[in-house]
Amino acid sequence: MQIITGFSKLNKSERVDILRKHVPLSEEQVILLSNFQGEDIKIDELIENISENYVSNYVLPFGITPNFLVNDRAYFVPMVTEESSVVAAASYAAKFWSDKGGFRTRVLGTKKTGQIYFSWEGNIKKLQDDLPILKELLLSVAKPLTVNMEKRGAGISDVTLSYGGDYHILNVEFETADSMGANLINSCLEAMSPELLSFLKASYPKVNPDAEIIMAILSNYTPDCMVECSVECSISQLSQISGDLSAERFARKFELAVKVAKENVQRAVTHNKGIFNGIDSVLLSTGNDFRAVEAFGHAYASKDGKYTSLTDVEINEKGFKYTLRIPLSVGTVGGVTSVHPLSKLALQIMGNPSAKELMQIVAAVGLANNFAAIRSLITDGIQKGHMKLHLNNILYQFNANASEKERAEEYFKNHTVSFKSVSNYLESIRE
Ligand code: MEV
Repeated sequence: MQIITGFSKLNKSERVDILRKHVPLSEEQVILLSNFQGEDIKIDELIENISENYVSNYVLPFGITPNFLVNDRAYFVPMVTEESSVVAAASYAAKFWSDKGGFRTRVLGTKKTGQIYFSWEGNIKKLQDDLPILKELLLSVAKPLTVNMEKRGAGISDVTLSYGGDYHILNVEFETADSMGANLINSCLEAMSPELLSFLKASYPKVNPDAEIIMAILSNYTPDCMVECSVECSISQLSQISGDLSAERFARKFELAVKVAKENVQRAVTHNKGIFNGIDSVLLSTGNDFRAVEAFGHAYASKDGKYTSLTDVEINEKGFKYTLRIPLSVGTVGGVTSVHPLSKLALQIMGNPSAKELMQIVAAVGLANNFAAIRSLITDGIQKGHMKLHLNNILYQFNANASEKERAEEYFKNHTVSFKSVSNYLESIRE
């Protein structure tokens, strides 16, 4: 294999030239790459700086889901996803809940933490006693980085120590206001690390060997950065969406579907994946780190030692209540959120929410997607909706014109959609 060096130093078209030397690409494919490069040079320059070795953009559909009533405020929610039916499912549930009080949400906490892992053979109990002095020192080192945050009521809220055998942990707790805070947290931790070492050396000079920083990094484990979201209605109102089932039967079947996800890990993963269909789409549209949110979302789903559903259903004489409780660490300023033109626009479309407000919108979309998925699963099945979109995709691939589309949509109301059946049908009407 030929090692390529200096790729990052090249410009976009030089990178594509190198790529073409190693990967067979037709002229058309090169044009395709360039078609997705921002035509507006300013956009191009912005995108180029988001990640490395840029040659083109990867375009995904940016859709809008209307009718999201969250805490009495109506939102148009931008969603970016490659998966068909996700936006349709969110829209369906948003509309259904919009005249039933909408989504009620509350933020349970916004605290984030970072850790400095270090090894040291000194008297850790003594260090624990000296923690207030160490804390003062560390806060003063981080002050230049946190001073702006403090103006917005954020900053470092606590420093604690956990100790074990081979290594110890200095936990630093942060409030990061409207930013996700990853850069701030990591910068603070890296500024604090040498100070921690100096403190250990100066305060306990007889201890050998020297203390060593193993690593300093934020934690995506954010159990204190949580949001809860619920929807509620009377049982009889469920008849609007219960298809052939009675409202009562629908409610009971829904409850059983959630029970299955609570008890059965195979189902729980798919159930929670449906929640993240909605959550990730909004995070992606706003330039947020969906991997961080997913990583802890799934860990949180296993917090009691067994992976389970992130939602809970309650059915009683008052009616039907469905709740999602989920950790969501998001930002509305800083990072890609403030750089990517479409992220900025996505936030503007939602009225430039604070991070807390965005947590609540995102949770509502997650709950909406899951609610719509379960509704389909316990009534018509999910393929009916999927197949309609699938049909559109196939028709597009065959360059169907408007009248062919209309005829095909009618025909496939009563016929099974597959690539072959659509191809045969188009052939027959084209003849
Ligand atoms: C598909 O992306 C998501 C669903 O499988 C979720 C679910 O089964 O609950 C429909």
